[in-house]
Amino acid sequence: MRENPLVLHVLGARPNFVKAAPVVRALGELGVRQGIIHTGQHYDALMSDVFFADLGLPEPVANLAVGSGTHARQTAALLVGLEDTFLEQSPDLVVVYGDVNSTLAAILVCAKLGIPSAHVEAGLRSFDRGMPEEVNRIVTDSLSDLLFATSPEALSHLAAEGVPASKVHLVGNPMIDSLFSALPSLDPAPVVARLGLPERYAVATLHRPANVDTPEAAHELVSAVLEVSRQIPLVVPIHPRGRTRLAEAGLVDSPSVRVVDPLGYVDFLSLVRGAALVVTDSGGVQEETTMLGVPCLTVRPNTERPITITHGTNRLVTPALLPAAAEKALADGAVTPSGSQPPLWDGAAGPRIARVISAWLKGDNLSPAAQGIRSE
Ligand code: UD1
Ligand code: UDP
Repeated sequence: MRENPLVLHVLGARPNFVKAAPVVRALGELGVRQGIIHTGQHYDALMSDVFFADLGLPEPVANLAVGSGTHARQTAALLVGLEDTFLEQSPDLVVVYGDVNSTLAAILVCAKLGIPSAHVEAGLRSFDRGMPEEVNRIVTDSLSDLLFATSPEALSHLAAEGVPASKVHLVGNPMIDSLFSALPSLDPAPVVARLGLPERYAVATLHRPANVDTPEAAHELVSAVLEVSRQIPLVVPIHPRGRTRLAEAGLVDSPSVRVVDPLGYVDFLSLVRGAALVVTDSGGVQEETTMLGVPCLTVRPNTERPITITHGTNRLVTPALLPAAAEKALADGAVTPSGSQPPLWDGAAGPRIARVISAWLKGDNLSPAAQGIRSE
C-alpha cells in the first residue's frame, strides 16, 4: 500500500448519505485521507443538500450529476462517470453503501479497474429479484473485498453465496449511529406546528416501484392510506418518484392527509419520533422506527430487514390489510419483542468499520475479534 492511501466513498441517493456519515467521521478521526464522490443520482436539494447539512458531511470532491433515467441509462452514466473519476483520483479503496444503482455501478467499475472495494450493509436479502435493489445487493456483495454486515442473518446469506467468512465483518448499523447522533435534536414540536398537525398523527413514506409505478398499484395503496387517514391524521413527505402517480390516484393535500415535500433528515426523524404510527416501504425507516419504538407497518410482501420484525416494531402488510393493521397498531402501541434490540445497533458501527478499514490499509490482517468486532 502506498504512503497516505486514499479512500473514496461513492454516494448517490438519500439513504447513502445517512449510512456514510458515521463512517466518514470515524475515518477522519483516525486520520485517513478520504473524499466523497457524489454521483448525482439524487439531486433535488431536499433529497441531497439537506442531508449534507444535517449530517455534517464534508463537501464532495466531485459531483458526477448523472441524474435520473431508466436503469440502463442511469447505470451507464454512472459507469462512465465513475471510471473517469477513479482513473483520475487513483483511490486505494472505494467504499459503497446499501443497494442503490450508484452502489452497483461503483462496484463494477472497481472490479474492472482492479481497485479494492468495501460494501457497507452487506448480506441483506429480500429473496425477491423483482426488486432492483436485490439484484444490486447480490452483485455488490459478490464483487466486494471487505463486507460490513449490519445484522447477523447477513452472515449466513453471504456464506450461502460462497463469500469467504474472512472478508465479512459484523459491525452493526451505521444508519443507527446517525440516528443516535441526531437524537438530541429530534423534537417533533416545531415541525408539527409548521405543518399544522394535531398532537396525535401518523407518518407515511412510499416510494417502492411495486407500490407507486403503475396506476393500479398506486390506486390500491392510496385507497388504503386514505382509509387510515379516517382513523388518524397523516403526514406524507412525498418521494419525487411517486409524486405524480400517487396524486393521480387521489393522494392530495387535505386537513387529514398533509402531502408535503420530502423532509430533511432532522425534521423527518423528529416527526417519526412523535408519531403514533408509521406506514412505509422504505428500508431505512423500518430500522429507525425499530430503534425509536414507533409502530411501523411496511407495505411490502417481504423485507430484507427481518430483524426489524423479530427485534423491533415492524410488521409487513398488504395494502388491503393496511387499514385493519393500522387500527390494531394504534390500539396496541409499540409492541417490541422482549429481550432486545438488534445486536450492535449501539451507535458505534462507524468506528468499527473505520478500524477495519484503517487496519486493512496498513496491510494488517487483524482478526475481527482482535479489532473488537465480531465476524460470526
Ligand atoms: C433509489 C434507489 C432505491 C432507494 C431510493 C431512496 C435504485 C435502483 N433505487 O430509488 O433503492 O430506496 O433511491 O430514496 O437505485 N427524482 C427527482 N429528484 C431527485 C431524485 C429523483 O425528481 O433528486 C425522481 C425522478 O423522476 C426519478 C425518480 O425520482 O426518475 C426515481 O429516482 P431514482 O434515483 O432512479 O430511484 P429512486 O426511486 O429514488
Ligand atoms: N428520510 C428523510 N426525509 C424523508 C423521508 C426519509 O430524511 O422525507 C430519511 C429516513 O429517515 C432514512 C432515509 O431517508 O434515514 C431513508 O431513505 P429512503 O426511504 O429514501 O430509502 P431506503 O431506505 O428505502 O433505501
